[in-house]
Amino acid sequence: MTTQAAPARSATEPDADPAARNGEPPPARANPLREGLRLERKPEACTMVICGATGDLTERKLGPALYNLMLGGLLPAEFSVVGFARRDLSDDQFRDQLRKGIDKHSRNRPVKKSIWESFSQGIEYHRGDLDDPKAYEALAKRLVRIDRDRGTAGNRLFYLAVPPSLYPEIVERLDHAGLAASRGRSGATGGWTRVIVEKPFGSDLVSARRLNREIGSVFEEQQVYRIDHYLGKETVQNLAVFRFGNGLFEPIWNRRYIDSVQITVAETVGVEGRGEFYDDTGALRDIVQNHGLQLMAMFAMDPPVEFRAQDLRDEKLKVLRAVKPMSPGEVAAATVRGQYVSGWVEGEKVVSYRDEPEVAPDSQTETYAALKLAIDSWRWAGVPFYLRTGKAMPARVTEISVQFKRAPLALFARAGMPQIEPNILAIRVQPDEGILLRFGAKVPGQGLQIRSVNMDFRYGSSFAVDSPDAYETLLLDAMVGDPSLFTRNDEVERAWEILDPIIGTWQAGDGGPLHFYGAGTWGPPAADELLERDGREWRRP
Ligand code: BG6
Repeated sequence: MTTQAAPARSATEPDADPAARNGEPPPARANPLREGLRLERKPEACTMVICGATGDLTERKLGPALYNLMLGGLLPAEFSVVGFARRDLSDDQFRDQLRKGIDKHSRNRPVKKSIWESFSQGIEYHRGDLDDPKAYEALAKRLVRIDRDRGTAGNRLFYLAVPPSLYPEIVERLDHAGLAASRGRSGATGGWTRVIVEKPFGSDLVSARRLNREIGSVFEEQQVYRIDHYLGKETVQNLAVFRFGNGLFEPIWNRRYIDSVQITVAETVGVEGRGEFYDDTGALRDIVQNHGLQLMAMFAMDPPVEFRAQDLRDEKLKVLRAVKPMSPGEVAAATVRGQYVSGWVEGEKVVSYRDEPEVAPDSQTETYAALKLAIDSWRWAGVPFYLRTGKAMPARVTEISVQFKRAPLALFARAGMPQIEPNILAIRVQPDEGILLRFGAKVPGQGLQIRSVNMDFRYGSSFAVDSPDAYETLLLDAMVGDPSLFTRNDEVERAWEILDPIIGTWQAGDGGPLHFYGAGTWGPPAADELLERDGREWRRP
């Protein structure tokens, strides 16, 4: 995270003990005054190896993110990329493929010729089966050659852009080919080695633990960067600055002043050709387990002792530990699951989820989920946290909205005026990133009339710069060795501990019915009833 005013994260691994850092040298303590200048965060020369490089992620996210980092002068000239995949491509064909993805998806377009030319010189393609040991031996040789030719000093970042079922095999093969050891360990190249893994990290607690164990048998925890791209979004990072960099909000950030919190992750898209994956996954695993609970943890955590990876992640874990997993008997009353049927979204006809390619015609998978969670801590006891996420919604919006308690005395209601709406603080993560405060104000004129008005901070108008894409932030963080915005093994496991009972109860058919909602609506009426039972309603973003 880079901030101007608040003491930002140092570019550090957390531990002072060199052994615990897996031999990585003690990182320089960042100068808080200079932190925030992205130029300060230029990583050492390194090679990024993308395993599964011909997939969608490389085209849509990784290629454009790397190009934008290069364009911003944030990558060293020696920086190199090796695409590793089975498809038979030449270096040039792979470069063309990357280039097409950048042309289509980069936030800065058109692509600058001079930047592309210098970036593309460092791009190579390594053809091989990801389960073939020989492919890794050849990769090891290639990387030594790149170190020699381009001066990448043995620093390697492996990005596993493949389904999680392949992670164990890939890490094992990397290990056998001598590619897993980091600086200071026997067999190491003298440089650092880190691995980025994509979500979903397991499909339940058992599989996540197994995955952690398997990856952990090869890599130290400090080498593993589990990506949750929501943590790289600018407003999510700003949440920490907003809370801990200002004196105003923290004193009221608790059960005494806050009535309830709503977290919404609404998408207009359906399953976008990922029917097979999604039908086995569902909204709870796809969004709530990671993005939803991480947003909640960032919102609800106590101030960390220091703004360092370990402290930040300890605080987030404390929040997750304070969420009591539901018993099967509680699930029906505290959760709602829905699936969309045909309708219209943004003027386009959308077919029913069950008619999507590779989705079972009688699928029970939820494309919408709403939950009421409780954080049993001194700060939050009694404050409900309502989380909802859905596909095929009327608008794309991610928002955390805080409803404050009413004033202790309804002074104006006594004068016959209607109750003033409660104050709302809405943190808009996307789109139109910003923060909105809603409060009652006197309508100008004689007499007393009160109406709710908004104080609206918008990133777009307050800062003349474009926010970086989450992948730019996170790739750069991994290269400089800052894991603050990546999820630690214990956080991931705790998130599954919270969700497993819900998923299990739903699957057993005991958690209430699957409700249907029309595409282009805000979900099933049962989700509204979830809040109505508590005398509340969802905020319409
Ligand atoms: C991914 C999910 O993690 O996040 C997708 O797997 C979802 O289903 C996506 O569409 C949403 O990300 P964003 O950044 O577009 O909100």
